[in-house]
Amino acid sequence: MCGIIAVTGGDEVLDVILDGLARLEYRGYDSAGLALTTVRDDATVVDSDLEGVAPVTLWRARAADGTRSLDHLAKQAEGASRPVRAGIGHTRWATHGRPSEGNAHPHLDCTGRIAVVHNGIIENHAELAAELTGAGHRLRSETDTEVVVHLVEAALAAGAPGLAAAVRAALARVRGAFALAVLAVDEPDLVVAARRVSPLVVGMTSSSAFLASDIPALLGRTDRFYVLDDDQLAELRPGSLVVTTLDGDPVEPVATTVEWDLDAARKDGFDDFMSKEIHEQPTAVANTLLDRVHADGHLVLDELRVGHDVLAGIDKVFVVACGSSYHAGLMAKYAMEHWARLPVEIDIASEFRYRDPVVDEGTLVVGVSQSGETVDTLQALREAKRKGARVLVVCNVVDASMTREADAVLYTRAGPEIGVAATKTHLAQITALLLLALTLAQVRGTLEDADVRLLLGDLHALPDKVGLAVDRGDDVLAVAEQVRDASAFLFLGRHVGYPVALEGALKLKELSYLRAEGFPAGELKHGPIALVEPGTVVLGVATRTGLWEKMMANVAEVRSRGATIVLVANDGDEETAGLADAVLWVPATHPLLSPVVDVVPFQLFAYALARLHGYDVDRPRNLAKVVTVE
Ligand code: M6R
Repeated sequence: MCGIIAVTGGDEVLDVILDGLARLEYRGYDSAGLALTTVRDDATVVDSDLEGVAPVTLWRARAADGTRSLDHLAKQAEGASRPVRAGIGHTRWATHGRPSEGNAHPHLDCTGRIAVVHNGIIENHAELAAELTGAGHRLRSETDTEVVVHLVEAALAAGAPGLAAAVRAALARVRGAFALAVLAVDEPDLVVAARRVSPLVVGMTSSSAFLASDIPALLGRTDRFYVLDDDQLAELRPGSLVVTTLDGDPVEPVATTVEWDLDAARKDGFDDFMSKEIHEQPTAVANTLLDRVHADGHLVLDELRVGHDVLAGIDKVFVVACGSSYHAGLMAKYAMEHWARLPVEIDIASEFRYRDPVVDEGTLVVGVSQSGETVDTLQALREAKRKGARVLVVCNVVDASMTREADAVLYTRAGPEIGVAATKTHLAQITALLLLALTLAQVRGTLEDADVRLLLGDLHALPDKVGLAVDRGDDVLAVAEQVRDASAFLFLGRHVGYPVALEGALKLKELSYLRAEGFPAGELKHGPIALVEPGTVVLGVATRTGLWEKMMANVAEVRSRGATIVLVANDGDEETAGLADAVLWVPATHPLLSPVVDVVPFQLFAYALARLHGYDVDRPRNLAKVVTVE
């Protein structure tokens, strides 16, 4: 997740920027950069136009060496002129455009007099870039961000009365999510900031003003904080803050009290990263959907690198992955088959590569991996390529090994996940795979446009529903407390509920070190039911997804053998609740999309039980975030 830091005023601008960037490191980044307005120290050399005026310059440095980027920036910064008036800095987690120095922020306009740093996604960047290029602007990066600085340049050239007005005019052209900071030579003490969706916080003292994408970057600098709201623009000058709406109406900023220490602040006040990341899931899903649906309702996954003709020619899909990523594939298989009328096989990556699978030029092999580095999946994809298949990767890390070797990539945009157990990356994976399923259906003509539009509506409703499910942590904790002493857990589901059950069992094993198994409920009587005895806790996915009656018949089978029944049920479904000892409530959604919502209470349940047992949820024993051994 990208990070922003900015400051104006005071003697320590550069130190504040470098220290702020270091404090943003925990968010994860692949490159970094900063821009400063500085007064040249060779100021005696002035031409007649500048007589009496300090020759201010805009100085920029960028580095793209992963976690060494900040050291390199600090070295470069030794060469910046002094004194420094104001500065903006950025840590980048790539979404549009690979991690590279050229794509690192800040981005400059054509004249090199304006700089911008940005978090978020500019949805209409492609059309704006075409327009700006047509008007003579030179865009130099692969990012969605760069259009903003050229729009600001154009607004100033068209007569906008100052930087703030120009930023306002530029943002009127932009669709999507943004938190940004803009700096310009012509108003060297001014930082203009604005936000929509992506967060920004301002800190004030009597002689400086600070801006950051989160509070940890500013802790200790001030205790006067103001959180910007959506669609607000802030003008920061030394000791002065003016806030307006993006339409220009004045806003009275209200100070926020912050009592966090640095560690609590990094976790946004949550006790651990896992909890924070569970709460970031609505945003992860929303970001994964952003800018992938065109205004006419058509899905165009621009970054796929393969044409629709290629997708239309596919006659079989093979999904390969491990762990939670495998479960995401399994959850989406139902939609892919149903919507796109394609046979979809799914395999554990470590099995796939050794079993001589039947794949050829007509097969689309989809690798799913949050890290993009899991060696089993990487090798499986190499094997598929050797056999002539087209390889598409769903991944959360731009430029990871898998993405470099694949024919096509679909990025999830969950931001870096620090907790070892996959949560927000998992939901983003399911979302991305559902988008892929819809795209396949669209190019193959297996769904009517009207149906695609309805399904897109359901997809866009998911972030709110996930948010409702996430907010029920206390209810889930109460259920976990009821069964905290149990030692055996059986997760059951049917159809799309089956992989949800598998993921629920995996989460519980990973975090609580308890015996937990997931099964298709219909398979119970073929063996697993022998495990059930009084004291066994059975967790079932009993949302109304079509096979509800059959699922409830299976629940009755375990209930009559003395199991304690915990059911995931749709809000208000008292009939289901009547058959359970405890209920984990979730909002209803389209059956084929339901795993995105239904898996959330299982994440919360595993989290709650692990905490009740006193385990470290961010670093479960024996597990690694990136698995690069077979
Ligand atoms: O990075 P990947 O998505 O390829 O990782 C796959 C699995 O190792 C991963 O999902 C693992 O199961 C997680 N610990 C799940 O929480």
